[in-house]
Amino acid sequence: MNTLHRIDGRLHLEDVALDTLAERFGTPLYVYSRAALESAYRAYAEAFAATPHLICYAVKANSSLAILNLFARLGAGFDIVSGGELARVLAAGGDAGKVVFSGVGKTANEMRAALDAGILCFNLESESELHRLDRVAGDMGKVAPVSFRVNPDVDPKTHPYISTGLKENKFGVPIAEAPALYRLAASLPNLKVTGVDCHIGSQLTDLSPLADAADRVLDLVDTLAADGIALRHIDLGGGVGIRYRDETPPDLAAYGRVLAQKFAGRREKLLLEPGRSLVGNAGLLLTRVEYLKPGEDKNFAIVDAAMNDLMRPALYEAYHEIVAVGERTVPARRYDIVGPICETGDFLGFARDLAIEEGDLLALLSAGAYGMSMASNYNSRPRAAEILIDKNEIHLVRERETLDQLLAGERLVY
Ligand code: LLP
Repeated sequence: MNTLHRIDGRLHLEDVALDTLAERFGTPLYVYSRAALESAYRAYAEAFAATPHLICYAVKANSSLAILNLFARLGAGFDIVSGGELARVLAAGGDAGKVVFSGVGKTANEMRAALDAGILCFNLESESELHRLDRVAGDMGKVAPVSFRVNPDVDPKTHPYISTGLKENKFGVPIAEAPALYRLAASLPNLKVTGVDCHIGSQLTDLSPLADAADRVLDLVDTLAADGIALRHIDLGGGVGIRYRDETPPDLAAYGRVLAQKFAGRREKLLLEPGRSLVGNAGLLLTRVEYLKPGEDKNFAIVDAAMNDLMRPALYEAYHEIVAVGERTVPARRYDIVGPICETGDFLGFARDLAIEEGDLLALLSAGAYGMSMASNYNSRPRAAEILIDKNEIHLVRERETLDQLLAGERLVY
């Protein structure tokens, strides 16, 4: 969906010129397009229409209340990984009955909060967690719905830091051990076995690992059924990649067809946990060039956004396209785009050819996923504001953090 376009040389998101946003709200500034968010969600709903399914948006990708609320109104469920994410989903009007809870380290308190809320399912990641949940649910006089996150050991062919389904990863339980764990879960009084779950990695650009993982999980479901353990849902996780530069992400419609075939005639509902592919290309980070610094080997454009605002380049050497918001007649030069943080790793892009002057605005594209949600206060930098654009309407959905908020909660020792 082409929500980003130029009118008279000025970059617009939907009907709003980005330079006007920078004037009004300052920079760095995250800006999201409602049309792009909703069209990404609808693309999923359409691609999987042939299979009874529930899309559980992975909150970690972007946990803005406004975005959670938009997806909740479209009927989404949510994949959470903490009590904080549960609180966000509930505050945003999400339906607890459509929430799945993933993560290797759920605390007893988090389990209690999720049981109180009445979530759809706990995705268990170890035997110890199974025993803890059984105890916590028993103390509350409740029965906890559970899945095991199984590790199908397929190579997702993505960055090692974001591949999660290999044997050596900390996630899930080995698929070979799953039948015994399911039997144990079925024997415990305060657990009800309802599903199975897997997630093999993120930013996958190839359909085949997703299809292989689905096959392995479906085989397990059949083995369990033969053992008298019938499941209600099969959660195949997230992981569908997006285009940052020149990647060709998997075609959702093709993925939908593959799964429709595999699920034909089955009783279990399909669950998916997409994050990046719902929000990644719906957002950008707006930043202003503070200084142009020519060097002997390189030129630097020092901008007011930094690794604390968008950590992906520093952490994964991730590529984000960087474009000038206005148009200049000055010649383009090659710049490393860097932030003000005192770390060599504080870069947003290397060797970008840009026709810019000091004071100009740049947009870092595809920043809707794992941008603001991974932002920190490193170097005591308040976190950016967030704007949601809806055609020509401008909504400030999160205020810029203030210095008072930055210092709140701290105490001196006398
Ligand atoms: N479900 C589970 C259990 C996950 O661990 C993840 C992501 C997702 C769903 C959503 O995956 P997605 O559809 O977004 O690929 N910070 C990294 C990405 C880490 C992903 C971790 N797990 C980045 O910026 O690329």
